[in-house]
Amino acid sequence: MDERHTPRTAPSSQRPVGWRRSVAALAGLTAVSLLVGFVWLPSVHEDFTAEGLWASICRAAGVPARWYTGGTAPAAAPPGTQVVLAREMARPRDAGSVGRGATLALNCTMCHGAHGMSTSNAPNLAGQYPEVVIKQLLDYKHGHRVNAVMQALAAGLSEQDIRDLAAYYASLPKARTAPTTYDETLPALVRVGAPLRNIAPCISCHGGIDQKFGTPWIEGMPRDYLVAQLRAFRSGERRNDPQGVMRTMARQMTDAEIEEVATFYARKAAPAGVQGH
Ligand code: HEC
Ligand code: HEC
Repeated sequence: MDERHTPRTAPSSQRPVGWRRSVAALAGLTAVSLLVGFVWLPSVHEDFTAEGLWASICRAAGVPARWYTGGTAPAAAPPGTQVVLAREMARPRDAGSVGRGATLALNCTMCHGAHGMSTSNAPNLAGQYPEVVIKQLLDYKHGHRVNAVMQALAAGLSEQDIRDLAAYYASLPKARTAPTTYDETLPALVRVGAPLRNIAPCISCHGGIDQKFGTPWIEGMPRDYLVAQLRAFRSGERRNDPQGVMRTMARQMTDAEIEEVATFYARKAAPAGVQGH
């Protein structure tokens, strides 16, 4: 057999010391960089919540939080509404329901006014559509609309209580009638919206041209309340509007526009030429 065909590679025991050192160095370097990248850096990151080594490794590798926390992702913003609006919610109630609602409403007068007309910055409830009162109270009850006072109160209301309260408030007269004419004096956003920015006219849902089921009556609401709600929709702090309908529009609105439409809806007297119905 020819000498040249003999394998030239020496058995590992005979490999030069320098080669073994470089393998050891590479292994060491790999271990250190894994520790730095997957454990140390994630652990000093400001949202590190000390869930242990495994969690830091998973987080660094981009694994979704619920995979390593056993299904409970860290509490984020509250989810949107889970209330399914049903025509049944608007069904007229018997006098008994209205009467029970009136009694329960004694706990609400402090903020919402003696006859559902607020004198503070709480929303008016007089004449509000029953499905709106039901939906909003259920959203507070289940944490889908955030307000400390209302969440605490709604938590103590049964579904029957909520239906009775809604029946009572629906039986009271509304703050004012809606503008129905296509009146030039209405703010543009109220009357025609801003089609290029996907803002539909307010009166196509909130009463005027049309009143869409589940859309609150906002005529005559306190101005500061309207501003606060529109800002909360814009920032996503309030997110219980179905399909994000209000969030999408509010995101496109400037501060000045929010002030303008809020001032309009809160106005004390109907503008000249606007007929109610
Ligand atoms: C301490 C004051 C206070 C009391 C008492 C109170 N509310 Fe409220 N309520 C508020 C405020 C403030 C808001 C607006 C909160 C927000 O920004 O989400 C509100 C919101 C609401 C809404 C949502 C209205 C809308 O147009 O979206 C409903 C419905 C409601 N309250 C019903 C009730 C009922 C029913 C009671 C009595 C059982 C009650 N509230 C008692 C202060 C109060
Ligand atoms: C496509 C229909 C639609 C249009 C257009 C619309 N809204 Fe709304 N709006 C809604 C619905 C639905 C809700 C109730 C969301 C929920 O369930 O919490 C709402 C809620 C609101 C609220 C909160 C009221 C309360 O008491 O909770 C305000 C304020 C409001 N809209 C203002 C406006 C203004 C101002 C415009 C015009 C720039 C407008 N909306 C246009 C559908 C609409």
